[in-house]
Amino acid sequence: MSQGKIAPAAAMQGAGFYNRNSTLQAANLGSALPLLVAAAGAVAVDGATIGIADYGASQGRNSMAPVAAAIDVLRPRIGPDRPISVSHVDLPSNDFTSLFRLLDEDPASYLVGREGVYPAAVGRSHFGQVLPPNSVDLGWSSNTLHWMSRNPCLVPDHGWGVFSADAAVRDAIEAQLDLDWADFLRARAREMRPGARLICQFMGRGPDTHGFEWMADAFWQSWIDVTDAGLLTLDELARIGAPSAGRSVAQIEAPFRDGRAAGLGLVDLAVVAAPDPYWAAFQETGDALQLGKAWADMMRAANGPSFAAGLDPGRDRGAVLDAVTVRLAARIASDPQQSRSYNVIMVVEAAGTA
Ligand SMILES: C[S@@+](CC[C@H](N)C(=O)[O-])C[C@H]1O[C@@H](n2cnc3c(N)ncnc32)[C@H](O)[C@@H]1O
Repeated sequence: MSQGKIAPAAAMQGAGFYNRNSTLQAANLGSALPLLVAAAGAVAVDGATIGIADYGASQGRNSMAPVAAAIDVLRPRIGPDRPISVSHVDLPSNDFTSLFRLLDEDPASYLVGREGVYPAAVGRSHFGQVLPPNSVDLGWSSNTLHWMSRNPCLVPDHGWGVFSADAAVRDAIEAQLDLDWADFLRARAREMRPGARLICQFMGRGPDTHGFEWMADAFWQSWIDVTDAGLLTLDELARIGAPSAGRSVAQIEAPFRDGRAAGLGLVDLAVVAAPDPYWAAFQETGDALQLGKAWADMMRAANGPSFAAGLDPGRDRGAVLDAVTVRLAARIASDPQQSRSYNVIMVVEAAGTA
């Protein structure tokens, strides 16, 4: 197990590319929306300002509907005059410009038709405290918490350590998942008001398999193809990857059991089969090329920057990502499959009177 030079997690591909290629993530979060709506109706609303936090907001497209839904439940409860702040948290490298353009210009913006709502951005990692103590009434995080702070070691034989053949690598990933999860919860315990609720949806694990193997293997194999074609070196191939993995129910529950999530209670936790909107579209159209393109663009949007971070400094990252994307699209088009993966949906409550 090599420590080498390991890049931290990178934000999604910028210039709005993630916004344009994240319908899979939009479908994923659907199962958690009813939990958010229920929480908006249940949380205490005593503060002078109501605080909503969106952890891992990216470029904002997929935050619009959840935040709008939460505001529409909160507003009648708090009256027309009380301000609602919405803090969109993401990494410093995130494309916040696209988020604010969307808020300003897009008909789907949650600001359209809603008064007294004040969005702001926080460009810091949510593995530490990023908002003032006792300032969050309602938290939301979609498609984000399977991202670790970093890969704990190099993973030479796969793009994702959880799929490595090396047991020491897989153990290191499990340890990092645990540390990051406890850090995330500790920070939220400080930010949430008593009685506040946090709703999270992220990649989980299935009963028998992790899930997402098909696409993870296809993406990794496309990087091997590009290496075989001479576009990158074996050293680079050994350095690239994404610091993400699903968590099991036991891993999610651990900090609540052993005291590291002190001040927080686990109200609801379920693992559900993830939807595959690309497969549903393919069933309608039979268009395998479109299926390949949709997956390849989404994988590039979400994972391209993390993988590219491992390339040599002088490397033309755009050209390499183009080559990988073309190969991945062709691979999928030639052997269309339905993706099988799992979503965690959960509700956390801060101790105190709701
Ligand atoms: C797949 S996107 C999800 C975006 C959006 N919430 C959605 O549902 O489509 C994951 C986001 O989490 C962000 N992220 C990853 N690690 C983070 C961290 N430690 N702190 C804050 N944001 C993080 C990434 O930059 C990225 O924008």
